[in-house]
Amino acid sequence: MNVIDPPVVPFNRTYVAGNELDYLAEAVHQGSTCGDGPFTRRATALLRELTGAAEALLTTSCTHALEMSALLLGLRPGDEVIMPSFTFVSTANAYALRGATPVFADCRPDTLNLDERLVEAAITERTRAVVVVHYAGVACAMEAIGELCERYGLTLIEDNAHGLGGSYRGRPLGSFGALAAQSFHSTKNAQCGEGGALLLNDGDLITRAEIIREKGTDRSRFFRGQVDKYRWVDIGSSYLPSDVLAAQLAAQLEVFGDIQRRRQAVWHAYHEGLADWADRNGVARPAVPDGCAHPAHLYHLLLPDLGNRQAFIGHLAGLGVQAAFHYHPLHTAPAGRRYGRPAPGGCPVTESVADRLVRLPLFAGLDEAGVTRVVDAVLTYRVRR
Ligand SMILES: Cc1ncc(COP(=O)(O)O)c(C=O)c1O
Repeated sequence: MNVIDPPVVPFNRTYVAGNELDYLAEAVHQGSTCGDGPFTRRATALLRELTGAAEALLTTSCTHALEMSALLLGLRPGDEVIMPSFTFVSTANAYALRGATPVFADCRPDTLNLDERLVEAAITERTRAVVVVHYAGVACAMEAIGELCERYGLTLIEDNAHGLGGSYRGRPLGSFGALAAQSFHSTKNAQCGEGGALLLNDGDLITRAEIIREKGTDRSRFFRGQVDKYRWVDIGSSYLPSDVLAAQLAAQLEVFGDIQRRRQAVWHAYHEGLADWADRNGVARPAVPDGCAHPAHLYHLLLPDLGNRQAFIGHLAGLGVQAAFHYHPLHTAPAGRRYGRPAPGGCPVTESVADRLVRLPLFAGLDEAGVTRVVDAVLTYRVRR
């Protein structure tokens, strides 16, 4: 394959799941495309059903939902927030924007989630919150982390960007934290290009969250007829998406079960098809502990070292398969060093897995031929010792 040819199997491709195009046309013709219209209400109701959240507020991104959580907590310079180093920049950036210090703890070598055994040692008198990220939608050890948060009076926040549709011991991800942030970016299981939501499981936070999302005004209450004019009542910003985006999202959430069946089929085809090859080559497949039902958000492999990881990505590209690495450790990133610090013991597991991890193509529209092409391409790679 010539290097400028597009991949035969891309890493991700937007999937048209149902009524997206009809709903988009309806949204454009409905007379107003601003936020909190009929499609926002529809998408919000579906999201509440899926997650069991007391309230859900659509936002323009997961990044913005995380920023809202930082505003809701009233974080100040000097406050500390514990989180994994192995995550996307937005998990940390949201709190650094308020002047708080992200404290980066290491991840577990099996699930790549925040290692619950390291959280207590990271707590100081300045710690205000713990943010968990359910990597690939496989749940963190929620009993242990929830118990620590309760014991030390810390707010638990879920960055649930990967976890929509996943559960832990039967309970939906996104329902454990006082707050949870969802992403509907185009790489996510349900998507609208760019979008997100803040789930509120603590009813006391709902009124203020609505205000923060509406530029610091009580406009949501005004639209419900609860006040006769709306005013500037708090700090906030503009975090609500256009109803056009909500239309695309509502169409996807309506057929979320179908999207999930398709993604699960791809995930399981990889998991079974690559088992022997992985064993022979010393490659680790995803670990899913008992009690975790994951939403097939991504399929990743851990190669033995960086050299093999890079060679493997190149090998797949040569066969028309686009694979991707993932997070750069936040504690060693330039802004991570400036605004945060590692927890005691550092993050050696994060540094190792960040070098070795590869994600294979996974999207709802990936057909059997595409999956076979990916599996066949992987099977022809021999790990170099
Ligand atoms: C763990 C995590 N949190 C937050 C985000 C940011 O999501 P968004 O693009 O919706 O802001 C991402 C993006 O992929 C992510 O992986």
